Amino acid sequence: MKYHPLGRTGIDVPEIAFGAASLGSIYFDVSQDEANKAVAVALENGINYFDVAPYYGMTTAETALGAALKAMDRNTFHIATKIGRYGDAEWDFSADATRRSIEASLKRLGTDYIDVIQCHDIEYGDRQQLVHEALPTLRKLKEEGVVRNIGITGYLLDVLESVAKEQQVDTVMAYCTYTLQDRRLGPVAKRLSEAGIGVLNASPLGMGLLTQRGAPDWHPGNEKVIELANAAARLCKARGSDISELAIKFALSTAREFDIATTVIGTARAENVMRNISWAGEVIDPDLLEDVEAVLEPVIGAGWDVLPGSGGKAGK
Ligand SMILES: NC(=O)c1ccc[n+]([C@@H]2O[C@H](COP(=O)([O-])OP(=O)(O)OC[C@H]3O[C@@H](n4cnc5c(N)ncnc54)[C@H](OP(=O)(O)O)[C@@H]3O)[C@@H](O)[C@H]2O)c1
Repeated sequence: MKYHPLGRTGIDVPEIAFGAASLGSIYFDVSQDEANKAVAVALENGINYFDVAPYYGMTTAETALGAALKAMDRNTFHIATKIGRYGDAEWDFSADATRRSIEASLKRLGTDYIDVIQCHDIEYGDRQQLVHEALPTLRKLKEEGVVRNIGITGYLLDVLESVAKEQQVDTVMAYCTYTLQDRRLGPVAKRLSEAGIGVLNASPLGMGLLTQRGAPDWHPGNEKVIELANAAARLCKARGSDISELAIKFALSTAREFDIATTVIGTARAENVMRNISWAGEVIDPDLLEDVEAVLEPVIGAGWDVLPGSGGKAGK
């Protein structure tokens, strides 16, 4: 596993980070036993950065991750979680909610500090509240040692870039914007990194879009995006390959061109954790990449409307 500095946080992040939204059963029902196996295999193989949120599975992802990490030495891994989003269409960046959310996350995660606390999907919430309540509260909690670094997450890159620079946050996590289907995060990540901000690329599989199983029914991509992603998956299958492999190899092999510190991949399956790690060390098939890019060409860079419900799903 390769490690890269996450901006000025002092954390060296593995090139693959563990996206724990899947542990909240947002793609399919996940048992605690499956969660334990996926987390243990990740940690044993050098994936020591776990990203989660109260919103994922309406707190079940944090609970499952906390249980899976319970027996592990807290000094051997980093936890990133979030505040501010509490439902498909529910945001609260008030000072009170921020403190309460962190207290509850600490309990669920079985820890007394959070390595990276992130304001979740900032484009939706009340910006004044974010700037005048949530962020100042997080800065106080940082002084108290409860949180160690402060970040923001979301889909709209212009919002992420301007807020990150104005508010001098430590990290930015963008999702679905550096994949086979969308490359827009690249130049933004480069500028953020030059400003000392650590960049995390979440959802290199486009939240399931670039998998053989295909996008989940709640996926916000428009019809054309989903149709062409399915066509690309069929093409990969016909060549004896898997579009997930191509998508992960693409994201990992080009991330450093844009100073992306880590790629946050979601899987609740130990065998897929291992597949992803092995793909990180392999060369991409240039002919397959070219053919898949030709299929996706009409929708490369095509984003989707950000409506509440984008950026994950509360799950069960
Ligand atoms: N707004 C935000 O802050 C935001 C938004 C989105 C994501 N994120 C973060 O980024 C993480 C990753 O995003 P995500 O999980 O939504 O999307 P993703 O990583 O793009 O895709 C996840 C899907 O890919 C499948 N997958 C993973 N590895 C695979 C493999 N080797 N072969 C086949 N399928 C594979 C998973 O299925 P299996 O479980 O069956 O392997 C799951 O259905 C989240 O967990 C979260 O931490 C943050």
